[in-house]
Order: sequence, then C-alpha cells, then structure tokens
Amino acid sequence: MTPASSFFDLIRGRRSVRDFLPTPIPEALLQSVLADANQSPSWSNTQPYRIAVASGAVRDRLATELTERFDLGMRAQRQGWRGKLQLLTRQRHVLPDGDFETNFAYPEDLQPQRRATGHGLYELLGIGRKDHAAREAQMRRNFEFFGAPTAIFFFVHSGLREFSVLDAGIYLQSLMLSAHAHGLGTCAQGALATWAGPVREAFDVPADYKLIAGLSIGYASEHAINHYNPGRAKAADFLLAHR
Ligand SMILES: Cc1cc2nc3c(=O)[nH]c(=O)nc-3n(C[C@H](O)[C@H](O)[C@H](O)COP(=O)(O)O)c2cc1C
Repeated sequence: MTPASSFFDLIRGRRSVRDFLPTPIPEALLQSVLADANQSPSWSNTQPYRIAVASGAVRDRLATELTERFDLGMRAQRQGWRGKLQLLTRQRHVLPDGDFETNFAYPEDLQPQRRATGHGLYELLGIGRKDHAAREAQMRRNFEFFGAPTAIFFFVHSGLREFSVLDAGIYLQSLMLSAHAHGLGTCAQGALATWAGPVREAFDVPADYKLIAGLSIGYASEHAINHYNPGRAKAADFLLAHR
C-alpha cells in the first residue's frame, strides 16, 4: 500500500488491514498520526474521548489475555451446557465484560450486507461455509491484533450519551485516513470492545469513560486479505425519497 497523494486516492485507497508485519511503528510517526486525528471536530469541541496506545510488552500482554479469553469462551461453547456451566462457576473472568454489548442480534435489514461482507472475506481466504474451525481461527486473529505491533483502544465519555460515540467515530476515521496517508494500515475493531477488564487493568481509565472499540495499526503484509474490498452500496441508495 502506498501513501495517497490526494483525498480521492486517500478515501478510496484505504482498506481494512487484517495481516500486519511485526515491524514497530516509529514513535514520531505514530505521534503525527495521533496529532492529525486530534484535529477532528466534536460536539461543542468537547473531544469526549480518551485513547490508549498499546505497543511492546503491554500489547503482547493484552494479546495473550484477550486470546486466552476467546479460546476459553469458544471451548465452552463447543462443550454445550457443561462448558457454559464451567464458565459461570469457575471461569467468570472469561465472560464478556465490555462497557457496551458487542454480541447482539443483528437487525434483519442489515443482515444481507453483513453476510456478504463475511462470506466475501472467507471466500478470499478459501474458507468454506461449514469450516467452523477456520472461521474461528480467523475471528481469533482479532484478539492478537492481526499481528500488528500496536493496538489502540478508544474510550468515550458516557455523560455525552450517543454523541460521544459519534465524535469517536469521526476521530477514528481521521486516524485511519492519516495512517493510510503515512503508509500505515489499520483495522477498526468492534471485537476489541468485548472485554474491557484487561484494557482497564493496563491503562488508567477514568470511570466515566467507556471502551467503544479498538484498532490495530502497523505496516500491512503482502497477504491477499489486505486487498479485500467488500464494496459499497451506491451513494444514491442511502438517499431517502420525498413523501
Ligand atoms: C466501528 C467498526 C468496527 C469494526 N469491527 C471490526 C472487527 O471487529 N473485526 C474486523 O475484522 N473488522 C472490523 N471492522 C472493519 C469493517 O469490517 C470494514 O471497515 C468494512 O468491511 C469495510 O471494509 P474496508 O474497511 O476495507 O473499506 C470494523 C469497522 C468499523 C468502522
């Protein structure tokens, strides 16, 4: 992936990166991406978010703790009621403790788009519809940050209700576009909001701030997954008709 030279290239050239080189990000480069994201507009300029950057040993520890939770949770699911009982009695720390619910029923009208995005990705990876083990392994990659040297966690001020989430989304997009302009790849990850405990243990997070998402950032590998483009509906498809 090459840095973009115009906004047209920048907005169309960014893709979610799901396989990273272990190469660390130079500190000055990361700081300039964060400084760009910091220019984002927000409700009354409140900038109602906090950002936790995990690199090096902190990143490694979080990857270990999150994948451990994922593995134990998946194993319990495979064991049926027996596994679930074990989770509830002896492995409660494995249960999702996110500040927001991440595992909810999708609205029916959004399902086709969601399925198409997932199927397209698995097809590109040669993973069949019934290959649950391979799907699980791909899902697991979320929690080792797809091999990225750095993970960023985003917290929003609960006092500003949904509007802080809106502001964090704008910040996230600024960060992803700046990263792309600087030759870095990113993947925004709702999955990283599943467990808040390990992240809160690693960082000094004020009580009012809730974990809304994470993001992996680093240098993209040559893996085909990084060229996956799920496409978009036409811009006109979002326009509401006049009554
Ligand atoms: C808020 C948010 C949460 C996301 N969560 C995940 C995630 O948990 N895992 C993942 O692999 N991709 C995640 N994505 C990436 C989307 O799947 C991706 O942006 C979408 O399919 C469009 O593809 P593109 O980013 O390559 O344009 C997330 C994106 C956003 C904006």
